Amino acid sequence: MKTEETLILGIETSCDETSAAVVAVGNRILSSLVSSQVELHARFGGVVPEIASRHHLILVNTLIDKALQEAGITFGDLQAVAVSHGPGLVGALLVGVATAKALAYALRLPLVAVNHLQAHLYANYLAGAPRHYPAVVLVVSGGHTELLLLPEADSIVPLGRTIDDAAGEAFDKVARHLELGYPGGPLIDKLAREGNPQAVKFPRAWLEEENRFSFSFSGLKTAVINHLYHARRRGEAVNMADLVASFQEALVEVLVEKTALAAAEYNARSVLLAGGVAANSSLRRRMELRLAAALPPVKFYVPPLDLCTDNAAMIAAAAYPLYRRKQFASLDLNAYPGLTIEDSNS
Ligand code: KG4
Ligand code: ZN
Repeated sequence: MKTEETLILGIETSCDETSAAVVAVGNRILSSLVSSQVELHARFGGVVPEIASRHHLILVNTLIDKALQEAGITFGDLQAVAVSHGPGLVGALLVGVATAKALAYALRLPLVAVNHLQAHLYANYLAGAPRHYPAVVLVVSGGHTELLLLPEADSIVPLGRTIDDAAGEAFDKVARHLELGYPGGPLIDKLAREGNPQAVKFPRAWLEEENRFSFSFSGLKTAVINHLYHARRRGEAVNMADLVASFQEALVEVLVEKTALAAAEYNARSVLLAGGVAANSSLRRRMELRLAAALPPVKFYVPPLDLCTDNAAMIAAAAYPLYRRKQFASLDLNAYPGLTIEDSNS
């Protein structure tokens, strides 16, 4: 295919999803393939880093070939190769980084290093969210819970983050203790629909005034585990649907209220939700209702479900502005497992 459009190949291997995608001009997905390793890790109750790296290695080249094929292009049509270089599991990240470097070198294409957390935000723009500022963003995933202010384009001010467990981590750990399976988020989301969210009043960690935009979920997680333990010791039957609905209610309420508070304090024109936990049906619904009821109402955007969880389309989309600014990475690019959302991309 001969095209004048900028086509970027995105590669994502930061955790347990191997993904490759081709995105045109940063906003049109030509192909997006995600191979989840969930079943491989499920019997261990969580991601086993070594297994994740090995499977990325097995899958990544096939997925890249398929992504090009589905996009109807060849390597020669690409303008850049983009890769998520952190944060994430170091071995898993290295597979993507090494693959992208090899391709960039062999094809003589620029290499673009993308911050995985910033890319989650781009899933919103891929889905058509306008870039209205100031904006408040909540990124909630398996490893992160970040409340951010975007005062203007290309500027990220962290307002708060979790001081212990990430939101997705709390879902996964609670699910593991309740023996519901892995990953816990989608399973709890589904089971909670059959339960009463008011059945058990679990604690909400609002934190002190100076930490009003920070989060803490480990106390909530422990409260759920203790509730189950004590009920079982007393020989009482536990309604699992009620239990997880109440847990989800407590977690979602804190996420929604802190986001709404930040939106009001910074006069946000829009709120964007991103990351795997943004797929949660209760969080999506509650956030929408809460922001619509705010005075004045705040516009709310959340990507479709398949763009919330890890995917390479968001990597290619986030790479586009960097490509335009010629912010290229060199071929000695490394993986940075501890990269934070405000860290720059190289
Ligand atoms: O963004 P993501 O795919 O990977 C990371 O970068 O961490 O997020 C994965 C996390 C997992 O903790 C998973 O349980 C959670 O997102 N998750 C959900 C839902 N779907 C995925 N949590 C709550 N409700 C869901 N529907
Ligand atoms: Zn992620």
